[in-house]
Amino acid sequence: MSPQNIAAWIRSPKADLEIDEAPYHEPGPGEILIKNEAIAIQPLDASIRKLAYMPVPYPFILGSNIAGTVAAVGADVKDFKVGDRVVSSTPTYVAKEAKWGGWQRYVLSKAESTAQIGDADFDLAVALSFPLSTAVGALHVYGGMEKPGEGDSSAHGNEKVLIWGAGGAVGGYAVQYAKSVGYTVIATASPRGFTHLKEIGASEVLDYKSSEIESQLRKLGTFKYLMTASGDPTSQQVLSNLLQPNGGRFISTRAGEVDLPGNVERVYNTFEFATQKPEFSEYAQWWYTTYLPKAIAGAVEPTPIEKRSGGLKAIQAAAEDVLSGKAKSKIIMNPQE
Ligand SMILES: NC(=O)c1ccc[n+]([C@@H]2O[C@H](COP(=O)([O-])OP(=O)(O)OC[C@H]3O[C@@H](n4cnc5c(N)ncnc54)[C@H](OP(=O)(O)O)[C@@H]3O)[C@@H](O)[C@H]2O)c1
Repeated sequence: MSPQNIAAWIRSPKADLEIDEAPYHEPGPGEILIKNEAIAIQPLDASIRKLAYMPVPYPFILGSNIAGTVAAVGADVKDFKVGDRVVSSTPTYVAKEAKWGGWQRYVLSKAESTAQIGDADFDLAVALSFPLSTAVGALHVYGGMEKPGEGDSSAHGNEKVLIWGAGGAVGGYAVQYAKSVGYTVIATASPRGFTHLKEIGASEVLDYKSSEIESQLRKLGTFKYLMTASGDPTSQQVLSNLLQPNGGRFISTRAGEVDLPGNVERVYNTFEFATQKPEFSEYAQWWYTTYLPKAIAGAVEPTPIEKRSGGLKAIQAAAEDVLSGKAKSKIIMNPQE
C-alpha cells in the first residue's frame, strides 16, 4: 500500500494554507518520487502565497526545491535508485501542476533536475540549491559570465564585479561565484555582514544604506558586471546611474518599478528556472551533475540557516517571516514532522 501523502494546499489566491491529503503519484518516464525531508522557504514561494505574485492554478501546492530520499523511480531512470539521498528542483512554477509542489511529504520530480548529495545534510543541500542556482543562473546563463575554470581566470583579476544586496542568500552566492571565476568583487550589504562577505571573497563591502553609496561606488571604477541581488528600486536606480554616461546593462533579481533611460538594459528573469528550460539543457546537466554536488560537498560556503519545527503546519508563519524580513536566515522545515 502507498504511504499517505499530506500537503500544505493553497485553495485560492492569497488564502491561508490548509493541511490535507494529497495524491501519491507513481513516477512516469524520467520522473522520480522523493520522500521530502527538507523544504527551504524562498521569497518567491512566500510572495505567491501572500500576494499572488505569479499566477498559478488553484487549488495548488507551492514550493519548488526539496531534499530527501528517493522513494520510487520511473521505468527508464538510470541515475537514481530507491534510497538515494538527493536535492531536487521541481517544475512547480514552470509546469504549474500541484503534483510537483514541494510543500508536501511525497514530491514528484524530474530525474534531470535532481542531484545526488551523498551523505551531505538535507537542510544544507536544500538551503543552498535555490539561491545558488539563482545567482549562477543570473551571472552565467543570463549575464554571460564565464564558468569557474573556463578560460584564463587570472585575466579577470583587475576586472570588477558589483553585487548589491550581498547580505542575502542570492547575493552571498553571487559574490562567491564571481570570485571563483576570478573577478575582483565589490559588494554592498548591512555592516553586520561585512566580515562574512570579505571571508567569502569580496574585496570591499560598502553599506547600501549610506547616503554616499553612489559616489563611493563610482570612485571604485567601472564594473564589468553589475547585479542587484536585492532587486529593490533604489538599487536598480543606483546601478543605472553608475552606468552613465555610456549606458550598459545590469542584472536584477526583481523586475520593473524603475523607469530606466534608453541606454540601460535591466537583465531580469526567473533565473532559478534556467535549469528547467530545454534551451539550457547543457547548463542544467553541468549544474546537477558537477557544480551543485561539488558546492554541497563544500566548494561553496553556505549562508546561515534557521531550522524550524512544526512541519507543514508551520510553513505559513515561516513564509510570513520571510516576506516581512523578520527571517534573517533561510528557514528550513521538515514536512515529515
Ligand atoms: N529572479 C529570480 O529568479 C529570483 C530567485 C530567487 C530570489 N529572487 C529575489 O531575490 C531577492 C533576494 O532573495 P534571497 O533568497 O537572497 O533573500 P534573503 O536571503 O531573504 O535576503 C535577505 C537579505 O537581503 C538584504 N536586503 C533586503 N532588502 C535589501 C535592500 N533594499 N537593499 C539591499 N539589500 C537588501 C538584507 O541584507 P542585509 O542584512 O545586508 O541588509 C537581507 O538580510 C528577493 O527579492 C527574491 O524575491 C529572485
